Amino acid sequence: MAEPIVTDLPAVAPPVCLADFAERARAVLPSDVWDYVAGGSGSEVTLAANRAALDRVAVLPRMLRGVEVPDLTTRLLGRRYAMPVGVAPIAYQRLVHPDGELALAAAAGAAGVPYLASTLGSTPIEEVAATGAEVWFQLYWLRDRALVLDLLARVRDAGCRALVVTVDVPVLGRRLRDLRNAFRLPTEVTAANLPHGRNDLAHGGTPGVSPVPAQSGVAFAPALRWADLAWLRERIDLPLVVKGVLDPRDARDAVGIGADAVVVSNHGGRQLDGAPASVTMLSEVVDAVGDRCEVLLDSGIRGGTDVLRALALGAAGVLVGRPLLWALAAGGRSAAESALALLAGELRDALALAGCADVAAARDLRTVVAG
Ligand code: FNR
Ligand code: LAC
Repeated sequence: MAEPIVTDLPAVAPPVCLADFAERARAVLPSDVWDYVAGGSGSEVTLAANRAALDRVAVLPRMLRGVEVPDLTTRLLGRRYAMPVGVAPIAYQRLVHPDGELALAAAAGAAGVPYLASTLGSTPIEEVAATGAEVWFQLYWLRDRALVLDLLARVRDAGCRALVVTVDVPVLGRRLRDLRNAFRLPTEVTAANLPHGRNDLAHGGTPGVSPVPAQSGVAFAPALRWADLAWLRERIDLPLVVKGVLDPRDARDAVGIGADAVVVSNHGGRQLDGAPASVTMLSEVVDAVGDRCEVLLDSGIRGGTDVLRALALGAAGVLVGRPLLWALAAGGRSAAESALALLAGELRDALALAGCADVAAARDLRTVVAG
């Protein structure tokens, strides 16, 4: 009788790219939570454009540059990180895993990359900072300015390294998947940085009202101006990052109020549907701000070659959103650590294949528009 040939292969092969975590997350998440995370606004034109545009950025590799093992380390906002990648701020991480923010922040800490903690985190900022990760706090400007000042004091006391103000959410984009699913937060998942009274709406119960945007609508200040950011700049002595600009004129205004970095972002295709892919605007923003502030990119980054593309177009680094949340969903802290290690490995290979000894060399690469 023939011997069985395969006896000891693991039932599930380990992930070999970030997309593998998405598949695993999809298998474990309730479908409305999957849709909330994966979805974009409107017809999801911008969501799709983010990927399509990144795929059209062709990087010209250099040869015979004497590179053995590329150095991934980089400086962002005056601090040294293991690679030019940060964990994008993502609300309500306990939606996808009971350890939520604590697990993803710990993974970021272990990987030596910054963890951007959302105002809408489901774990208080003090506990996130206590993981030891390098935490940058992401601020959604609240209608109640006293609450903003209160948050800033907490952020400073918790030892956060930077303040990231997200400017592309005057209102939440129209997320059709969430409307169709009548998506609401489960009662145990709350915006833990906000006073309790601000949480009720997100859990639903009001007929005809879409819970998550309803909460943001009540909590967030819609009519902000650059003067408000200038006011803020005077009150914090942390590096200030403005997240969510696409127009180079806005990037110049950010420099004008003393921002230390901008994030070129369309919020992962979740805000204005029909806005351009963020990578499409990257070079123009880099040209507009020169060396007056750092430029980061997010929206659609799915692997090391995407990080290389962003660097070649002049970014100082990138933020990664959904893929890391999917890793968190699939296996908590250890899966998130694996995802970050995978990304580092991919970036190391991409730099080596492009003949780059380090991140600075990648910023000298040329790109052409493919296809
Ligand atoms: C986000 N994003 C976001 N941004 C922010 O400034 N504060 C927040 O609380 C959130 N929350 C949030 C929740 C979910 C489920 C997603 C998918 C995204 C946007 C995020 O920081 C980032 O800009 C995008 O996710 C980047 O795109 P990718 O990497 O997800 O394609
Ligand atoms: C989102 C908000 C909360 O994109 O930033 O869902």
